Amino acid sequence: MCGIVGYIGNKVATEVILEGLRRLEYRGYDSSGIAVIENGSLKISRAVGKIINLQNALQNEKSSATVGVGHIRWATHGKPCEENAHPHTDCNKKIVVVHNGIIENYRQLKQELISEGHRFLSETDTEVIVHLIERYFKGDILLAVKAAVKKLKGAYALGVVSLDNPDVLIGVRYDAPLVVGIGDNEYFIASDIPAVLSYTKRFIFLEDGDMVELKKEGYRIFDKKDQICERKINKIEWDSLMAEKSGYKHFMLKEIFEQSQTIEDTFRGRIEVEDINEFFNEVNISPEIIKNINRISIVACGTSYHAGLIGRFLFESVSGIPTETDIGSEFRYRDLILNSQTLLIAISQSGETADTIAPLRESKKFGVKTLSICNVMGSTITRESDATFYTRCGPEIGVASTKAFTGQLTAIYLLALYFGIIKGKVTKEYSIKFIDSLLKIPRDIVSILNKEQEIKVIAKKFFKKSDFLYLGRGPNYPIALEGALKLKEISYIHAEGYPAGEMKHGPIALIDENLPVVCIATDGKVYEKILSNIEEVKAREGIVISIAAEGDELIKEKSDFVFYVPKTEELLYPLLNIIPLQLLAYHIGVLRGCDVDQPRNLAKSVTVE
Ligand code: AGP
Repeated sequence: MCGIVGYIGNKVATEVILEGLRRLEYRGYDSSGIAVIENGSLKISRAVGKIINLQNALQNEKSSATVGVGHIRWATHGKPCEENAHPHTDCNKKIVVVHNGIIENYRQLKQELISEGHRFLSETDTEVIVHLIERYFKGDILLAVKAAVKKLKGAYALGVVSLDNPDVLIGVRYDAPLVVGIGDNEYFIASDIPAVLSYTKRFIFLEDGDMVELKKEGYRIFDKKDQICERKINKIEWDSLMAEKSGYKHFMLKEIFEQSQTIEDTFRGRIEVEDINEFFNEVNISPEIIKNINRISIVACGTSYHAGLIGRFLFESVSGIPTETDIGSEFRYRDLILNSQTLLIAISQSGETADTIAPLRESKKFGVKTLSICNVMGSTITRESDATFYTRCGPEIGVASTKAFTGQLTAIYLLALYFGIIKGKVTKEYSIKFIDSLLKIPRDIVSILNKEQEIKVIAKKFFKKSDFLYLGRGPNYPIALEGALKLKEISYIHAEGYPAGEMKHGPIALIDENLPVVCIATDGKVYEKILSNIEEVKAREGIVISIAAEGDELIKEKSDFVFYVPKTEELLYPLLNIIPLQLLAYHIGVLRGCDVDQPRNLAKSVTVE
């Protein structure tokens, strides 16, 4: 996710916009830029890295401009560099655009525009927008923007200014957030409230398809049918820190609630099964290499390792490729047997985990192909991999990984599906059914999040416990591990995740009336087995908290508490089952007074071995 800010009024635009970008730095910070209109010319500055670098670039400039736009980037298309930093301009450097979102059809539009003679300077998807506006511009920037957005497919929040219309600031919102700040003869647009909360507490939340034309003397809002409309002005009483968390108490809770959006962002534009080559081009690995692969080796740490364990199920059952998953710190000290027909997949949110970087480097000696699944463009792991699949979760601030985990799973689902197609293991019918179920996941997650109160009730009952056991089978065994890790690292309660079938080989000795046992029991080929494990726990007075599929009445009789998730494909349940477990860890941690965003002893990125 990126951050955009725009201003029109009587203040110095550069100051307002820089302040706004600084307050949006939690949304992304690999590069930034600003464009203002001053005395008939367009002044553009861009800088790689944190916002302070842009500030330093501008510190000696005395600007009197009162209209402009700015952008802080979290790269999704095109590496972090000055050429790819926003704002982007048309060929004549008279129109400027800043964008947050993903243009799914940017490649086709770029080819069209290049064939019309437009010259592109960046690798971004955003640049097609400003050249589209240029194509339709006949003197009125509002009409040109209206014509241009009709060609876009994907998600976009835009800020647009034009040298030929210096008294106008345009904002557009489609499937990416954009708010309008209402001042006294001054107006703001921003990706999020914190950017301009210090200037105004009055905000309009644009709706999808809305376009706003802002002038010092007033504004007009056009809805998706191009009709002028009114939108409610809301008074926001948050302080700026609360606003950065969008009103949530902690970043972790905000990030748990972002997951329906971040999963959708991660698969957006990547599920056109017809054009599989486009997918492989973006990931930068050729289908021929996948055809030649006869083994996948996954390495990762912590939560990412748990995603990798689920990956093993997916790559074996969907792609038909033998797969193993190892903890990074163990993998690198084994006597490795790898070769050029092995694909090594390194999974890492930060891309900087030393215990994952080391095995990635080690494995290259064997001539393996390397692919990373990562959330941070330009991080070490992505630079050292042959190919990278970027999750699009935006910066994950909470130390406990939540949205990055489900982003990694989404990446794995898509990779497994496409590998399966390349290997001839997946039929067209299966891929259509699989994609259809995946497309429903964001909505299913919203329905789970709407039941947060049920989790709070369970958290209240058990937050004083000193031990928890989490049980799962098949692809839900790694979810048991991840649920236990979340609880451990957030609440400091000792929690263990175990394959449910292993209970009788030891852990069953732990079961008594004081031990809460979380059982992941959604339907699938091992459902009957997990039911009998639940009965074993109940027979020893254990407290059973079950995660089950909606409609499952049988589980009620065997559990003390049941949390239902929507029905889906067996292999997709991990995306849903982890949500209540994240919420359970969060609410128990809060009840125990723990610092859930920065738990003791933990770092967000473990860059040392
Ligand atoms: C997850 O909640 C932890 N913060 C930790 O286990 C983390 O997943 C691990 O350190 C790996 O980090 P990475 O994904 O950035 O490589």
